[in-house]
Formats: sequence, C-alpha cells, structure tokens
Amino acid sequence: MSDKRFYIETYGCQMNFADSEIVNSILLEEGLKPVKEAEEADLILVNTCAIRENAESRVWNRLKEFRGLKRDNPSLTVGVLGCMAERIREKIIDKEQLVDLVVGPDAYRDIPKLLRDVDDGRKAVNVLLSLEETYADITPVRTSGNGVSAFVSIMRGCDNMCSFCVVPFTRGRERSRPIDSILGELELLSEQGYKEVTLLGQNVNSYKTEEADFTTLMDRASLVDPEMRIRFSSPHPKDFPVDLLHLISERPNLCNYIHIPAQSGNSDVLERMRRPYTREQYLDLIDTMREIIPGLTLSTDIISGFCGETEEEHQDTVSLMETVQYDLAYMFAYSERERTLAHRKLEDDVPEETKKRRLSEIINRQMEIQEELNRKEIGSEHLVLVEGPSKRSDDQLCGRTDTNKMVVFDRKDFKAGEYVVVEIDDATSATLKGRALRRSSIREYYGETVSA
Ligand code: SAH
Ligand code: SF4
Ligand code: F3S
Repeated sequence: MSDKRFYIETYGCQMNFADSEIVNSILLEEGLKPVKEAEEADLILVNTCAIRENAESRVWNRLKEFRGLKRDNPSLTVGVLGCMAERIREKIIDKEQLVDLVVGPDAYRDIPKLLRDVDDGRKAVNVLLSLEETYADITPVRTSGNGVSAFVSIMRGCDNMCSFCVVPFTRGRERSRPIDSILGELELLSEQGYKEVTLLGQNVNSYKTEEADFTTLMDRASLVDPEMRIRFSSPHPKDFPVDLLHLISERPNLCNYIHIPAQSGNSDVLERMRRPYTREQYLDLIDTMREIIPGLTLSTDIISGFCGETEEEHQDTVSLMETVQYDLAYMFAYSERERTLAHRKLEDDVPEETKKRRLSEIINRQMEIQEELNRKEIGSEHLVLVEGPSKRSDDQLCGRTDTNKMVVFDRKDFKAGEYVVVEIDDATSATLKGRALRRSSIREYYGETVSA
C-alpha cells in the first residue's frame, strides 16, 4: 500500500479543510505520496459536505467523473469522507458502485486499516461518530494554503440542533480539544512562520474543557506569538461571552472582526429555526460588541426562504442587514435536509422562485452596503498582513486588514508573511486598493501592549 499516490479533494466549510489536513497527515505517516491531480492518483478521497443540496450534487457529479477514471484504471480506489458519508453509505457503495471506501468525520484514524480491506477486495466503511475524538495528537500537514494563515480546529460536532441544519447529524456531539494540544499547534505554526490562525468550531463560544473556556483559550492563544493574528469562527449569538470582547479590545493580535451568524432578522423565523435569540437580543449584542470594540467589522450568515417565511419576515432580514451594516455576508436559499427538525416538523413551503428572488434582493442590498462601507475606508491606513500575489496580477500583492478586508497594492519589495502599512485609495464592494507605505509589525504599529 505504501507506494500508493493519493489525492484529496475537499468541499464544504473550513473545518472540512482542516480535517483533510489531518487525513493528509495520517496518509503520509503510512508512507503514501501526495499528488496534485486526481488523474495521477491510485487513491482519490473526496471530503464531502451535506449542508445544502447543491453542495451534495457537486460531489455526486465529481464522483461520476471519477467513475470514468476507474474504468481506465481498475486499481484506482475512490473514497468518500466527511459529512455525506453516513447518510448515503449504502447508496454509494451498493447501488451506484461509485466508491470503495466510506469514512465518517470521526473515523479517519481507521483509514489505513480500511485501505487494507479495500486491497483485500472488501468494501470498507466506518461511519461511527465518537463522543471523544478530537484528533488532538495528530499534527495536521498543511500542503495547500499560503504558508501565512492557517486553520486550527478547537472542537468537533455540534449540539445546537438549529432546525434547518444537518451538521449535528453528520458530525455528532460537541466535544472540545484539550487546550495544550491547541496551544502546541499554535507554537508549531508560529515556528513555521505562520502569521495568522483561525480557531475553528461550529460554535466556538461553547468551547469547554476542564482547563479552559473559550475566553481563556483566546487569552492563552494571543500570548503564543504577539506577531501572530488570531481569528475565530463561528460564535453563536445566543451565548457570546462579553469578557472576550474586552480581551479583543485589549490585545492587538486578536482581530477586530467577528463573524456572527444571524440567519434571519425576524424573531418568529428565528424561533422556527430554533435559534434561541430574538431580533432585539441580537441587535443588543451587536451594540455591545461595537461599544467595547470601536472599529469592529462584522459578517454574518443568512438563510432566505426558510419554512413559512412571509414577505414581511423577509423584509425584517433586509432591515436587520441595513441596521447592522455587515462588512461581509454569506447568504443562502433554504435547502431542506433530511433528518433535521424542519424536515420532520415544518413545511418547506416557500416556492423556489420566491426563495431565489428574496435571496437576490438580500445579496444586492448587501453588495450596496459593502461598497458604501468600503468606500468610507478611502484615505484610511491599515496594517495589512500580506498573503501573496493578487489574483489579477503578479505585480500586485493582496492581504487582509485586521478587520478582515482584502487589500490589493503594488508589490514593490514586499513579501508574503510581512505586515505592511497601506493607505487605502480606492474600493469596490469586495476589495480595497491601496498604496503600501512601509513594513511594520503588530507591536510597532499598535505599540507594546501585550503582556502575560
Ligand atoms: N455552525 C455555524 C454554521 C455552520 S453551517 C454557525 O452556527 O454559525 C454554515 C451556514 O450554512 C449556516 O450558518 C447557515 O446560514 C447555512 N445553512 C445551514 N443549513 C442550511 C440549510 N439547510 N439551507 C441553507 N443554508 C443552510
Ligand atoms: Fe448547524 Fe446551528 Fe450547529 Fe451551526 S450552531 S452547526 S447552524 S446546528
Ligand atoms: Fe458541510 Fe459538514 Fe462543514 S455539512 S459545512 S462540511 S460541517
């Protein structure tokens, strides 16, 4: 098995990308060799997402393409990992003959054994979910990415049971990774030259072990390397810790940007979604955040056309977005998922065209808001962490502000991983453009305020 070449393709959220790095590490340990193209591989693994129907159909189409490769190369092994594994294991293995291997998100340690089963001519499946698995002792191997910013999983699963969401079923119960293992990974990343880390979980503010809660974790994480920025995603509006807001406002390397998913701007819809907060409570939280952290930027997730959503309820979402003025928003049409509470108890009764129309209304309004907010940045100065060449041209670099805005500027002699002071001179709804003034650092730019 050890001379096999493997290729992993990843769909879904950042947590899935982080998981692929764990799988990568497990396969390298077994002596397998990574390749960059599916066509060159003996083992293709697709790390899948089940959050919306279109995420699943993309994976199905891809698996059909791989079936073609399997015809040309009968020794090719194709496996499905991640959030689609459990629900459709029988379907994929028995009926469609698309894959040889199915591994759920908590069973990646079992991959070497399962691959031996496949080599012995057996179909291999392990979709058991765990109450403990956090892969704490496996150091992810980061083969993709820019070498500047990395994602670090701090917990797995979710207990929230929002009525629309399949994640609690695909990923199982919530559990937190021990703090020493997280801090150890941050230290390693810092030694490797990483300058920005995003701590990941489905609801990071419910991070809890015997040693630490989320604020303690953020406190300790910020002290690992004062030149390493720390971000996190996602917190839940129901229990955002106020002490964390104070910590963010005090520590220059804790970023002044929070992704705080609202899902809807109407309290009745929120109740049907089983999101335990009202519009008013959400807006109060936003006010508190902005009081404690001046200059804070915000982003959100919104679902359009959830069960029973009326035109008025939809307008409440538009008005929430106008009130909050998000710097970024991820907006989706509701997609019914089997096994969820909404699937069992509510009717998916908003017609597809109405969902689409409401979604585009929301997107269009959000683009206008983003452009207005970004244009207000013209003339301001930001400390930008350079990520690499810009998409359009090698003569330009791109990087993010502390507030998570993408900035593009002329390369000069600046490099990825450096902090550069940039003066903003133009803006679109998606990006800021600017002029790089000088190299700097977090400590130099904000002053020496970090202390243990
Ligand atoms: N744990 C994160 C969200 C993870 S899923 C949180 O609670 O913030 C990312 C986003 O996908 C959700 O915030 C939601 O907006 C969207 N989403 C989840 N289920 C969906 C569904 N059935 N249809 C459409 N969008 C959905
Ligand atoms: Fe899904 Fe809600 Fe958990 Fe987020 S908090 S993963 S939306 S159940
Ligand atoms: Fe998708 Fe699973 Fe993430 S369903 S969004 S990959 S947790």
